[in-house]
Amino acid sequence: MKVTVVGSGNVGATVANVLAAKGFASEIVLIDIKEGLSEGKAMDMMQTAHMLNFDTTVVGVTNDYAATAGSQVVVVTSGIPRKPGMTREQLIGTNAKIVKSVVDQILEHSPEAILIIVSNPMDAMTYLTLKDTKLPRNRIIGQGGMLDSSRFRYYLAEALKEAGYPATPTDIDGMVVGGHADKTMVPLVSLATYRGIPVTQFLSEEAIQKAVEATKVGGATCTKLLGTSAWYAPGAAAAALVEAIALDAKKLIPCCVYLEGEYGEKDLCIGVPVILGKNGIEKIVEVEFSEAEKAKFAESVAAAREVNSKLADALK
Ligand code: LAC
Repeated sequence: MKVTVVGSGNVGATVANVLAAKGFASEIVLIDIKEGLSEGKAMDMMQTAHMLNFDTTVVGVTNDYAATAGSQVVVVTSGIPRKPGMTREQLIGTNAKIVKSVVDQILEHSPEAILIIVSNPMDAMTYLTLKDTKLPRNRIIGQGGMLDSSRFRYYLAEALKEAGYPATPTDIDGMVVGGHADKTMVPLVSLATYRGIPVTQFLSEEAIQKAVEATKVGGATCTKLLGTSAWYAPGAAAAALVEAIALDAKKLIPCCVYLEGEYGEKDLCIGVPVILGKNGIEKIVEVEFSEAEKAKFAESVAAAREVNSKLADALK
């Protein structure tokens, strides 16, 4: 299994690093436009192979798309990250052009690849990729829900700890759907559990709302602290999608996908639960949301459509 990661910044390098440590890929290619960056990071990672005990070869190249040929999965992290105070949507002007050009070059060399889009604003970049490439929707997957769900689990575990229950994120099951956007992502409280028991049995409405709001601005909170956007969790999230596909694990994960009538929506890409396996999106899973969650999902859809309506201008 050959995997390419486009963009060797913080997020791209973390994807490669997490994947290398897992060891299931034979080769990981890191590619960036910045001279020497990928080569340096790949070399640094290869010098961990002995300690981390992996046999994956990590190769770094500058702008040499021929080196990515024959990749089965490609993760696109290219573009600029947000600075404190920025929304993901404000990146559209710069990132739309970059993502379009990257995807075109990738497909020239790996026409069969499954694409995982990480660049922000991610839902719009996934939609752009789908429209631009006209590939079947199972091969174009946006990463957002995996990350946001992991943040949701973290904040619920923190809330449980505060309420006197010694929870860690792995004790929690919870999913975030909708757009990967601060105001409109939808943490599904009605389906969140602590070791199988609804979190509503342990936490006050106020504590749950606090966790929900913290989840929604999880990326912005890190950005404020770091001066740039987060990378460990976004990188690990994209690596988890690659793993589910590479190992044909058929995992139920919320991903950004093109809807054709599911959840009553069509002609947009947004986060919903899917099964991920060797074909990419194997199935879109429709689950029952509460009435309040349905209303929030509809708002999220409207917000995503609004961002998509700016794509044509962004590409001019
Ligand atoms: C985040 C950015 C990377 O949520 O979208 O951290």
